[in-house]
Amino acid sequence: MRGAIPVQAIILLLLCFRVLSQSDGSTAPMEEKEKEALYLMIQGFVGNWWNGSGLYPDPCGWTSIQGVSCDLFENGFWYVTTVNIGPILDNSLRCSDNAEFSSYLFELSHLRSFSIFNCFSSPFHKETIIPSQSWNKLSSSLETLEFRLNKGLTGQIPRALGQLVNLKSLVLTENSLIGELPWEIGNLVHLKRLTISANQLSGKIPASFGTNLAELLIMDLSNNSLTGHLPSSLGGLASLLKLDVSNNLLTGNIPQELCKLKNLILLDLRNNNLSGGLPPSLQTMLALQDMLLSNNPLGGSIKEFSWENLKNLTHLDLSNTELVGEIPDSITDLQKLRVLALDGNQLSGFVSPKLADMPSLFALYLNGNNFAGELRFSQEFYNRMGRRFASWNNPNLCYGFKAGNTTREGPDGVSKCNYGENRTVHNLDAGNKAGRVETTQSSASMASIGSSASSFARYMWISFLEIVVIVFLWSSM
Ligand SMILES: *[C@@H]1O[C@H](CO)[C@@H](O)[C@H](O)[C@H]1NC(C)=O
Ligand SMILES: *[C@@H]1O[C@H](CO)[C@@H](O)[C@H](O)[C@H]1NC(C)=O
Ligand SMILES: *[C@@H]1O[C@H](CO)[C@@H](O)[C@H](O)[C@H]1NC(C)=O
Ligand SMILES: *[C@@H]1O[C@H](CO)[C@@H](O)[C@H](O)[C@H]1NC(C)=O
Ligand SMILES: *[C@@H]1O[C@H](CO)[C@@H](O)[C@H](O)[C@H]1NC(C)=O
Ligand SMILES: *[C@@H]1O[C@H](CO)[C@@H](O)[C@H](O)[C@H]1NC(C)=O
Repeated sequence: MRGAIPVQAIILLLLCFRVLSQSDGSTAPMEEKEKEALYLMIQGFVGNWWNGSGLYPDPCGWTSIQGVSCDLFENGFWYVTTVNIGPILDNSLRCSDNAEFSSYLFELSHLRSFSIFNCFSSPFHKETIIPSQSWNKLSSSLETLEFRLNKGLTGQIPRALGQLVNLKSLVLTENSLIGELPWEIGNLVHLKRLTISANQLSGKIPASFGTNLAELLIMDLSNNSLTGHLPSSLGGLASLLKLDVSNNLLTGNIPQELCKLKNLILLDLRNNNLSGGLPPSLQTMLALQDMLLSNNPLGGSIKEFSWENLKNLTHLDLSNTELVGEIPDSITDLQKLRVLALDGNQLSGFVSPKLADMPSLFALYLNGNNFAGELRFSQEFYNRMGRRFASWNNPNLCYGFKAGNTTREGPDGVSKCNYGENRTVHNLDAGNKAGRVETTQSSASMASIGSSASSFARYMWISFLEIVVIVFLWSSM
């Protein structure tokens, strides 16, 4: 039986041959119609000079096209599943000055992912719009659609994109799209990522965006000109991790219903026109890491909020939100908080030195408020924070100095606590120069007495000196 070749070996050989022949360009079967649609679609973007059949006789085989990939389907044919147009690599497909969408795009019936990057951008390029029809032809296959950084891509977002019911990711960012967000985008029930940012879109956020998109993880509608209220339906986005509607013209309250977003990590509402205070329900969004609300006329008190609940908070930005009240101690319980921006409000009261003990604190902005009294942070704290600590523009705030060190510099724009001596200088300035010398000396001697003297005792001491000086001046006249 020695010479016989085992049947298994033959089967194995045949299998190997089959696999090889499929990855081998010369024999990869591809429908002629599919090949032609691919070439003509690409020519639409890169120009007619591009001769696919000459350069890439076998786009799914050995001579594949940069940015194009294929898959083998059950019928034994290869089909194009990914097309990326734009200068990503040196040999990528680049758009010509006359680039346009070719209707052959819609003949690629197995296309899963389509992206256009930095196309229609040359100064000579005429404006281009997204085709308004035929998207239904891709509805059973397309999962990813991405148009990024295409300055010449204008016009409206076609309603027909709402037919792409298998879409998982829709990214339309940094183009020049105008008009309103189509209600039909809310039909894309399998979306995980919806990014329609940095265009010139106007109008309201459709309520449908919240009702149906239960699988959505990221919603980014930032940097447009959206108006109206944040729809309360957004509370229905049960899986959402990131909600970014910053840099729009949204008005009205922050809806209570957002508290249903139990997985939300990032809430970015910066640079809008939202009012009505901090809704107490936000206290229950326990997963939040970034709560960015700056530059909104929110109003209300910072104190009536249980900050200690938001244990995972790392970045709290409440700059310019018209907040009043004192900084509640509950904020100092936030062990992971790295950035606390409270500048540009009407916050008042004493600044607790406990803020400096927050273990992760990396930046603290208190400038532009009505804080009062002495800042009691250590020199080590100011040195560590550097420019990441700001407390200027608080007219009633001052910094103290530790015993034995009068040379120390305080934080920018904050004056030394004067405990009355400045008042003395001020009063005497009107009269005699000798008075200034007298009080300057007295405040220096005060410092050497040490920090055991309470500010009240210091005040009394200075007042006493003031009387002595006045009596002295009086009697010398
Ligand atoms: C493309 O190249 C093929 C083969 O090199 C050639 O036969 C064909 O004429 C070319 N087509 C165009 C439009 O230049
Ligand atoms: C949105 O606008 C902000 C502020 O103008 C800017 O810093 C940011 O880069 C913009 N984002 C995009 C994606 O253009
Ligand atoms: C902001 O909203 C208020 C109403 O809450 C409105 O009166 C005002 O005009 C809005 N400002 C801008 C810049 O849209
Ligand atoms: C807070 O963060 C920790 C660590 O990243 C994580 O395990 C925990 O689930 C988070 N808490 C919430 C409520 O998401
Ligand atoms: C006093 O403060 C100055 C300025 O910060 C510092 O350089 C110096 O070491 C301090 N002296 C003492 C005795 O702490
Ligand atoms: C005293 O007050 C004047 C003006 O009110 C101010 O310019 C000066 O810096 C103060 N001096 C001290 C030592 O606080």
